[in-house]
Formats: sequence, structure tokens, C-alpha cells
Amino acid sequence: MGLELKRGHLQTMAKITLSIFIIVPMTGLSLATDILGVNSSISYGETLVSSNLIFELGFFTPHNSSMSYLGIWYKFSPNMIVWVANRNNPLADRGGILTFNSVGNLVVLNQLNGVVWSSEWSGVLQNPIAQLLDTGNFVLWDNFVSSSDETYLWQSFNYSSDMLLAGMKLMLNLKTGFEQRLTTWKSMDDPSPGDYVLELNNTQGLYEVVQGHVNSKKNRTGQWNGVQFVGSPIVPSPPAVPVFVYTESEISFMFEVQERQLFSVAKLNYLGVLQLLVVNRSRSATWNAMIEFPSDPCDIYGRCGANAICNGSLCECVIGFMPKSPDEWTVLNFSSGCKRTIPLNCSKGEGFWEIENVKLPDQLEVTLYRSMSLDECKDKCLKNCSCTAYAISDIRGRGIGCLMWFGDLIDMRVLEEGNHVQTLYVRQSASKLGIHAYAN
Ligand SMILES: *[C@@H]1O[C@H](CO)[C@@H](O)[C@H](O)[C@H]1NC(C)=O
Repeated sequence: MGLELKRGHLQTMAKITLSIFIIVPMTGLSLATDILGVNSSISYGETLVSSNLIFELGFFTPHNSSMSYLGIWYKFSPNMIVWVANRNNPLADRGGILTFNSVGNLVVLNQLNGVVWSSEWSGVLQNPIAQLLDTGNFVLWDNFVSSSDETYLWQSFNYSSDMLLAGMKLMLNLKTGFEQRLTTWKSMDDPSPGDYVLELNNTQGLYEVVQGHVNSKKNRTGQWNGVQFVGSPIVPSPPAVPVFVYTESEISFMFEVQERQLFSVAKLNYLGVLQLLVVNRSRSATWNAMIEFPSDPCDIYGRCGANAICNGSLCECVIGFMPKSPDEWTVLNFSSGCKRTIPLNCSKGEGFWEIENVKLPDQLEVTLYRSMSLDECKDKCLKNCSCTAYAISDIRGRGIGCLMWFGDLIDMRVLEEGNHVQTLYVRQSASKLGIHAYAN
């Protein structure tokens, strides 16, 4: 993806920078470099600046707080803190320093030389170099080791805070179990971990981004359909082109920016709202929230209960279903959802009712066949008496792949115009087929 520079190249850059750095005497406040080498350190007020002056790294103190933290921010927008090192372990004063320990790990020390944060690389580095890149990634490597090893030993992009920068991944490593997710700040002025997380969800089949609050789902973007997360407003655009990868070893999501003067961040704010914040540097230094998720009541997870579709402020039972508690339903309490008017008995003549432009249900119990056609999918679902619905899993081209649901259908909503068309086929008893209205 072109974002991780080869280390050989970096080393060349680093050597040049270092030689300049050695000639220029250190004058105090600004290190005027993107590199931190062995035997050097940064204290409050000193910073590293990436080579094109985009990002800055140093200690900061949030408004209304006396604590200090090591962090990274945009040089043109110092309030936009994109990464925090010691968010679990704030410094009580401004006496912290960033330096290397005896085995070459990056450490933040307090005034008593206590370690409040460490990069926790397990090996020993002979000649450690830390560099702040123009991507916002703070990377650690060993200038001593031969350049055949091309990975960073540690990088801040693997330890996200509450924000994704372009090229930074939400990730689930299926081999090691390593998971990279976003965790909100506790409040606007407190970077310590808050109540909401944004993560890739490894359910059976395809995967989705979920925001959780104490292990309960708050919002769900819906599964990746080859173009976007089906229920999220993040569609490909110059400030953010979403990239989703699933292989046998890794599931990951990131975005890329397509225009040089655009800067975008995907921030999970302390209220648990995912925002795409964008600034156009050729025009201003003001960040605009291009997208917010959730954006309306239908984005609240499971608002309509089972087997119902959220539409504006109302819920509608899927055809063939009726409210479980009509009394609650009439006072607009939809949480108990809908049940079948006529139970399925897997008899001949059962078929499917087609619902267009819908956010597909949560994948609580699903099976995915990645290369199956829609017709095969229909046959397969029909033959399995417990299959309640099916849909195409990848809508690109003519569509490919088969998702089959078992059990209740949870968290569906009507999609707005402009979303990529997604159709759900819901199993119906023979006698229900042919009715053309929601049984509301
Ligand atoms: C809605 O109905 C559920 C039971 O289905 C009940 O537990 C809940 O308290 C009701 N909510 C309101 C706001 O009345």
C-alpha cells in the first residue's frame, strides 16, 4: 500500500538528517529534526517535526488538565492530537522526558526516572533510531542491523489511540490474535481510555466495524460489500477511500487520501461518535466533520428488535411478520420486535420475499460462501429448513458470494439513496408469498 517506506531508504534519509544534525549545534528548544538518536532525549517544550512539517511530536497538556502526555499532533493544528503514548499513565507535571533505555527501547520517564511508557520491543537495539514520518507514524528501527530486515521494530501506527490516520489500520491478526482498535478518550480533556471502542468484528463470514459499550453493541456499520460497509456513509471520496482486506491471516480496514492538500482523520470522539474530519490546507486550517456515524435513530443497534426494518423514526415488521407486543408497538416501543404470522414448516412452496436497499441484518448466525452465485444461494437456502434469509455478499460487478442467515434478523434499516444497492431475500411461507405490503 506504499505507506511503509523500505527501511533501506529510511536509513539513507536518516543518515543525511543525522549528519546535518551533528554539524548544527543543539541550541535548546527545537530539535529541528524528525529523528531521535541514541543518547538524545526530548523534554517538555522540545519537539520532533516530520520532514515536510506536517506532524509534530512532543509533550502536551490538555485544556483544564495539569497532567502531561507524550503525543503527536498536526503542526498546523496543535489541538488535533492524533496519538498519545502514556494515556494510561499520565505525568503529574511537566518533568517527563522521552529517551532510550539501555536496550534501545523508547521510554518516557518521570522526574524520578520511573518508566511511565515504553515501546516494549523485546529485543536489544544496538543503535536505535526513532523517526517521526510525514504520515504521522512514529517508528523505531536499529541503524546497526543490516538493511535486509525491512520492518520497523516498533511503530505508533500499531498502537492507535482514538483516531485513524490515512494508512493506519484497524486490524485483526487471525494468526496471533493481535487486535488494533480505536478507544475513545474519557472526556474532551482526558486521553485515558473511555467507554467506546471501534473494532473489526470477526463473526462467521464477513466482517464489520462495531462500536461497543461495555461489550454491548452501540452501532454497527454493516458488513463490507466490496465497496463500502453497507450501512455506513463512508463511501469512496477524495478525502477517504476505504480499503478493506481479508485474507487467511488478517482482516484490516484503513482509508487513503487522494488529494495532496487534503488531510483526513477518522476519529471516535469521546461520545462514541465516529467522525470523518477533513481539512483542505489550500483553503483553511479548519476541520470539518464530513461524516458522522451514527447519524440518525436507525443507526442505534437493534432499535427495531428482531425481524423489523427501521425507517425514519418508525419501525416496520418485515412482510410475513407482526409485532410481538402490539400494545408496545402502538406506543412506539419497538424493542420486542416482530414474529412470524404463520410459522414456517419447511413445506413445498416456500420461497423468498425481496427487500431492496436495506442494511443487511447483523451476522449473529450466518454462513458465507464466497464464490457462490445468487441462484445457487437461493437453492442452498431453500433446501436448508433453518435458513431464514440470504443475500449477495460482494456487490461488485454482477455480484458474487452468498450470505445465509439463520434465526432472527436483527438491526436492519432502509438505506438512503446513493448507497450501493443491497437486497435481502427473506424466507416466506407458501401462503404469505404474493402479499405486497408490510404487515405493520
Ligand atoms: C419497551 O418494552 C420493553 C419490553 O418489551 C420494556 O422492557 C421497556 O421498558 C419498554 N420501554 C419503554 C420506554 O417503555
